[in-house]
Amino acid sequence: MAKITLNSLAKMKQSGQKITCLTAYDSTFANLVSTQGIDVILVGDSLGMVCQGQDSTVPVTMDDMCYHTRSVHKNINDAMLMADLPFASYTTDEQALQNATRLMQSGAEIIKLEGEAWLAPVVTRLRQHGIPTCVHMGLTPQSVNVFGGYKVQGRDSDRADAMIKAAIELEAAGVAVLLLECVPVALAREITAAVSIPVIGIGAGPDTDGQILVVYDMLDLTPGRKPRFTKNFMSESGSAQEAVSSYVAAVRDGLFPAREHCFE
Ligand code: KIV
Repeated sequence: MAKITLNSLAKMKQSGQKITCLTAYDSTFANLVSTQGIDVILVGDSLGMVCQGQDSTVPVTMDDMCYHTRSVHKNINDAMLMADLPFASYTTDEQALQNATRLMQSGAEIIKLEGEAWLAPVVTRLRQHGIPTCVHMGLTPQSVNVFGGYKVQGRDSDRADAMIKAAIELEAAGVAVLLLECVPVALAREITAAVSIPVIGIGAGPDTDGQILVVYDMLDLTPGRKPRFTKNFMSESGSAQEAVSSYVAAVRDGLFPAREHCFE
């Protein structure tokens, strides 16, 4: 496999080849997922929940993100490395630039932030300084206390229209990738068609340009009830390698997500 860059992702969108993404938080898992052909590895702030046992992503700090990004960077092979700016680490353009710089210097190649159209100036500023961005829209877990829980976003037409408009504004501001979490299938399809940049989905249906899951969820390592949008790929696999490889094949063949993983 050749090194994955933003150009590769753009070509995949153009040709209709689905982009495969998983999270990883350490070097062993980075090796596991990248050797099975994953295109993008996300060092997600979900590490607060799955590695640290926190109730949400809110307590995750910049030091946590840099530590895990450095660990994953050691073993990414050809995958692209994306890292999250954590809660309250991008409250001003200047703070965003400083913190995104720390993540880039820890090995990230693209930085993810949660929000909507209000992020446009930050996106432009980071791009001017050589930092590509991914904006995570829809259900943004850092705002769980504002939403009052982990709820599907964009079911009503005002919110759906605002999200479509935000996607177009963010593209104009220079965002490289969009990520949609927990939005209805039809809205995700409309946003994906409205922009020329790649759109990755989680709980956003089959029509986005790519899919992402939390690696511990799809390997069935997380206890308790799983979100509807995830799937246990371990149940029909003999090893973690085989489970990741089945996920890659299922995404590329359009078999994942199936209807039961989506919100209509
Ligand atoms: O932090 C994370 O793992 C994420 C994914 C769920 C997309 O943002």
